[in-house]
Amino acid sequence: MKAVLCHAFGPPENLTFADIPSPPIRAGCVRIAVRACGVNFPDVLMIRGLYQLKPPFPFSPGLEIAGDIIETAEDAPDLQVGQRVMATMMYGGFAEEVVVPAAAVVPLPAEVSYEHGAGFALVYGTSHIALTRRAQLKAGETLLVLGAAGGVGLTAVEIGKQLGARVIAAASTSEKLALAREYGADETINYSSENLRERLHEITNGRGVDVIYDPVGGDIFDQAVRRIAWEGRYLVIGFASGRIPSLPANIALLKNASIVGAFWGAYLQNDPVAIRNSFAQLADWYAAGDLKPRIHKIYALDGAAPALRQLMERRAMGKVLLKPQP
Ligand SMILES: NC(=O)c1ccc[n+]([C@@H]2O[C@H](COP(=O)([O-])OP(=O)(O)OC[C@H]3O[C@@H](n4cnc5c(N)ncnc54)[C@H](OP(=O)(O)O)[C@@H]3O)[C@@H](O)[C@H]2O)c1
Repeated sequence: MKAVLCHAFGPPENLTFADIPSPPIRAGCVRIAVRACGVNFPDVLMIRGLYQLKPPFPFSPGLEIAGDIIETAEDAPDLQVGQRVMATMMYGGFAEEVVVPAAAVVPLPAEVSYEHGAGFALVYGTSHIALTRRAQLKAGETLLVLGAAGGVGLTAVEIGKQLGARVIAAASTSEKLALAREYGADETINYSSENLRERLHEITNGRGVDVIYDPVGGDIFDQAVRRIAWEGRYLVIGFASGRIPSLPANIALLKNASIVGAFWGAYLQNDPVAIRNSFAQLADWYAAGDLKPRIHKIYALDGAAPALRQLMERRAMGKVLLKPQP
């Protein structure tokens, strides 16, 4: 099979595209012919050696895929050859075939395309668990989404609206903010040209923001955290800006605010039931037409480098995908 390979930490252009043997089937697992893979910022971090997980070389990046089951282990009886599915993994998705535990596989309803399936789990799963379980966002509260047109950001806007929040989208360009409005944002702030702290003060009449969803970190964190409301919750999602910020702890004390971490992948190991329940809610919203996964651009499997560059250069608006087969 063909696969994208990382032989040493470095830029996307160092990835190779090679013919390698298909991984052997393992107990409790299924083999899937990959029809589409989601590209995520953690892939960018992983190939550069900046992610918490550092797989042995050579490895294929890729955390989520959709495709068809082509082989099942004897002890994976609930899944059948020919079934359309989506699946998540720690790495390995940028390949024509993957072997994954049956527990990581979710059947894909007939009306869901491979493209939507491959770009769904990580971004919607992260935003849903973060906003509901971790931040306990309530109807009527204000939600600020930073990096609001990115992969996870746009899903936080959509889910925030589903939960009845007043959503403030913040991003770096007017094009990105127009997209966030299309996805339901009530207010927008361009943090490249406007003062984020002043605008948040204005929009919330000085009250501050109840829940802040932050996949960006760095300087934007420094500004946003100072506009957290009384009993607000600051969701630490990621650090796409490249800097992990530090917090003067008096801000949390004075506002009775909480800094809340949300790492979706850790639920796969520690609480898979929470993931299943979250997917059930997301599937209902999707079926009702309330979630509209946005695909920014699709590349062939050998286009991993330019695909990853879309994210690194802040060009992605929604999801970037790879497609092994036309
Ligand atoms: N906690 C979890 O479970 C979880 C799950 C998935 C992803 N993440 C993390 O969430 C973050 C976003 O992931 P994603 O897949 O949504 O990525 P993405 O689509 O590339 O979105 C990231 C956004 O960050 C903003 N940004 C600011 N400075 C940037 C820079 N120097 N380089 C790139 N982007 C920059 C961009 O928006 P503007 O241009 O508008 O500023 C961009 O839209 C990453 O840190 C990722 O590791 C966490």
